[in-house]
Formats: sequence, structure tokens, C-alpha cells
Amino acid sequence: MERELALEIVRVTEMGALASARWIGRGDKNAADDAATTAIRSMFDSVSIDGTVVIGEGEMDDAPMLYIGERVGNGSGPSVDVAVDPLEGTEVVACGLHNAQSVIAIANKGSLLHAPDIYMEKLACGPELAGKLNIEDPVEITLQKASLHTGKAFSELTVMVLDRKRHEKLIASLREAGVRIQLLGHGDVAGAIAAALPDSDVDLYMGSGGAPEGVLAAAALKCLGGEIQGKLLPEGPFEMQRCLRMGIANPTRVLYMEDMVGTGDVIFAATGVTSGEFLSGVRFIGKERAETHSVIMRAQSRTIRYIRSIHYLPGKEIPDGITNRQNVASM
Ligand code: FBP
Repeated sequence: MERELALEIVRVTEMGALASARWIGRGDKNAADDAATTAIRSMFDSVSIDGTVVIGEGEMDDAPMLYIGERVGNGSGPSVDVAVDPLEGTEVVACGLHNAQSVIAIANKGSLLHAPDIYMEKLACGPELAGKLNIEDPVEITLQKASLHTGKAFSELTVMVLDRKRHEKLIASLREAGVRIQLLGHGDVAGAIAAALPDSDVDLYMGSGGAPEGVLAAAALKCLGGEIQGKLLPEGPFEMQRCLRMGIANPTRVLYMEDMVGTGDVIFAATGVTSGEFLSGVRFIGKERAETHSVIMRAQSRTIRYIRSIHYLPGKEIPDGITNRQNVASM
């Protein structure tokens, strides 16, 4: 993959973020998601890749666009797998809360795990702890290892966890151990990334969230030199069958970085929709301009680029609930 591709990809997440941002706080998560999906699908037509969506809006029969298996890009570039979450944090946008973003990862064809839309247990960390932890360890052991390798006492460690009822036991164990907990409302791609950002206070990300989000986080963590381990949590025979159908022969085994993102190069791009862990959200400036904040990373160079863009949209005031692909593409 040419490195210039990173810039093309971030233009796509910018459009997803701009389109969905019109729906912030309007209580309609489907409209917000549709707006992001339509914009992203349209922008992909101008990107020089022969892409196949492996993580997207759902299976072909359920999703009109960005469905699993859909070809994206203008077909002229490298053959790549595409993982896309046009709007990571649909509820967040609907409720006007924090941490929503448009996210895309690409990697050479055959590299990205075809993760079903079920829960995944996750353990993520930064470079200091990469290769030192095991998701199957009890919480106490993980904390001991983290303490040993970071040189921090338990009281100085910070663990980020999605604030969910299903995490009550995990949170109780962490409290008992005396570590700090940062509870996250939504958006666990950003949560897992927080554990690996050079200037973050978060040491570990723990708990379960969406499996597709786990693969997207793995792409970012690879670029950051961090690690995420995952274990799919299929509930009942239907979800188990879905895993098998998607080519995951042993759905409950531990998934390592190479299982989720392969061993080659990866490009990860995200644009903030609402402000969150590491990106500011879209800011509309009058009727003709909007500001976006994005990050692009590449595993090969491990460069992290933050991009602040001011988009000039003369005569193209972004309509509410944008659905016209032509309008979005020409922004
Ligand atoms: P959506 O974009 O699908 O709303 O996902 C938001 C999110 O917070 C993800 O980041 C996370 O992986 C998942 O939901 C957690 O699921 P749940 O809200 O069911 O705990």
C-alpha cells in the first residue's frame, strides 16, 4: 500500500463525520448512521483501491451500503480489505454525547478478521505492555504484570472500562485492587486506543464491546505499537453459527494481533464527530465552513498524524440528513 493512501482514506472519514455531525443531539441514531454511511460510500468511489468490505454495516441482505463483501474504491489501486464503521457511537450522536467518530482501517487483502457483530472480550495496552499480558489471566495477575512492567504501583494504574452492567464484577475486582478506573460511556475503539497513545493516562483497556470495533482497534494499536487480545463471546447457537459461517473455526479461542490484522502494513484513519478521548468533534463555522479533527496512522512507519481541516463548502450548506451522494462527493 502506498503511503499516500493514508491521506485519501482520511478524506473519506472526514466526509462521514461531517455528514453525521448534522444529526448530533437529534435523537435519531439511524439517520446519523445513514448520513455517515452514504457519505463514506460515495467518497470511496474516488479512492485508488480495489477494496472489499470485511467489516461494515452488516451482511448483504441487511445493509444497502458498505455491506460485507461489497467492493469499494475505483478499482485502480492495491487489493485491500476494508474495515469501516461510518459512525462509531450512533447513540452518542443521537444523544449529543462524547466520543463518536468515523473510522476506517485498510490492510492487504486477506489480512483483516471477518468479525461477526457480536461481543468480544478485550484487553488492550500500549507498547510498554505489548507481548507481556494474557487475556486469560485473572484481573489481579494482569494488574501485577502491568505494575511490574510499567513500574507503577496499583494505585497509579488507570484502567478504562465501558460503563455497563455486565462489567459490574470486573469493576468490583479493579476497585478492590485499588487501581483507578475511567468509565467510558460509548465508543470502545477510542477506549482501546487510549491505552496506547503516547500522552494518555490510561494503562489498560478491559471488558467486552463489539467484535468489529475490536478489529478496528487492533488496526490502530498495531500502528501505535500496542496490543489488543480478544475473545469472541458468541451467545447461543445462532451466534456460534455466524462465527463459523464467517470462517472462524474455533470461535472462543484467543485472538491475537496477527489474527485480527495480519502481519503486513495497516492504515487507520478516524475523524471525530463529537469530541472524545483523542479527537475533537466537528465544528460548524457559519453556513459555509466546518472544522474536523482526524488522525491517520500507518503501521509500517508508526507515524501518528493529526489533521485539523477547515472545509469550505460554498453554496453546499450541508443539508440535514444528507442523502444525496453527489452533493457529498463534491464537497
Ligand atoms: P454503535 O456505534 O454501534 O452504537 O457502538 C457503540 C459502542 O459503544 C461500541 O464502541 C462498543 O463496542 C459497543 O457500542 C458496546 O456495545 P453495548 O453498548 O451493547 O455495550
